[in-house]
Amino acid sequence: MNAQEQRPLFIILLGPPGAGKGTQARRLAETLGLPHISSGDLFREHLKKQTPLGQLAQQYMAKGELVPDEVTIGMVRERLAQPDAQQGAILDGFPRTPAQAEALDALLAERRPRVVVPYIRVPEDELVARLSGRLTCRAHGHIFHVRYNPPKQPGVCDYDGSELYQREDDKPETVRRRIQVYQTQTAPLIDYYRQRGLLVEVNGNAPMDQVTQALLDAVRGAGA
Ligand code: AP5
Repeated sequence: MNAQEQRPLFIILLGPPGAGKGTQARRLAETLGLPHISSGDLFREHLKKQTPLGQLAQQYMAKGELVPDEVTIGMVRERLAQPDAQQGAILDGFPRTPAQAEALDALLAERRPRVVVPYIRVPEDELVARLSGRLTCRAHGHIFHVRYNPPKQPGVCDYDGSELYQREDDKPETVRRRIQVYQTQTAPLIDYYRQRGLLVEVNGNAPMDQVTQALLDAVRGAGA
């Protein structure tokens, strides 16, 4: 292993709701042997356990709004301090505001990480089709789609046999709000990372395997 490879690797997946961040993060995590850290999944875990953090987050998630920065940053800081994240991670859904991006820079600075930021581009009409047909597994958050990626048995997760459900925030009105929120609060991060020379654009409007390959090429092409 050379000195470059000894530095931790953080892959920050940027893209609108429904771009395929969760789907691809799981695949990259498996291929690269890094943990998948999804702020949305962390909030949903808290909600399942009915913690105060979960109950607070739910008030924002149900409306398609962002959970306040200080709460989100604190939760991710704690996750990144765990032993499995010392060699890096695939970040999915975080950062989502300039304040979160700056907090992440500060959190990681001492680790001298390699950072790659793939931006998964998908047209808006496709996002709505993807989110309205998404099915999520109750036990571990595995992701399916009624048409694009159907489970073998309707309503049942292929991986763990648990129930598949429609996320509350995948209802059409909430999806539209999430896309607006993305455009105003998260899209500025595209330039934030482009200016730092870390952004790699990937076409997300392609079959899943092709997107995975493009992401792996982007990570390797960035010398990471
Ligand atoms: P979060 O859970 O992060 O949701 P999101 O960012 O809106 O992203 P999604 O999970 O909806 O989409 P995705 O890009 O992961 O797509 P997926 O792979 O599932 O956040 C939820 C909420 O939590 C937020 O609204 C906010 O309230 C809160 N939150 C989370 N993080 C926060 C933060 N940092 N700060 C503040 N608040 C925060 O794919 C979608 C569908 O498309 C699936 O059905 C899939 O099978 C299908 N699909 C995927 N790829 C393809 C393809 N190539 N072709 C065809 N279909 C495909």
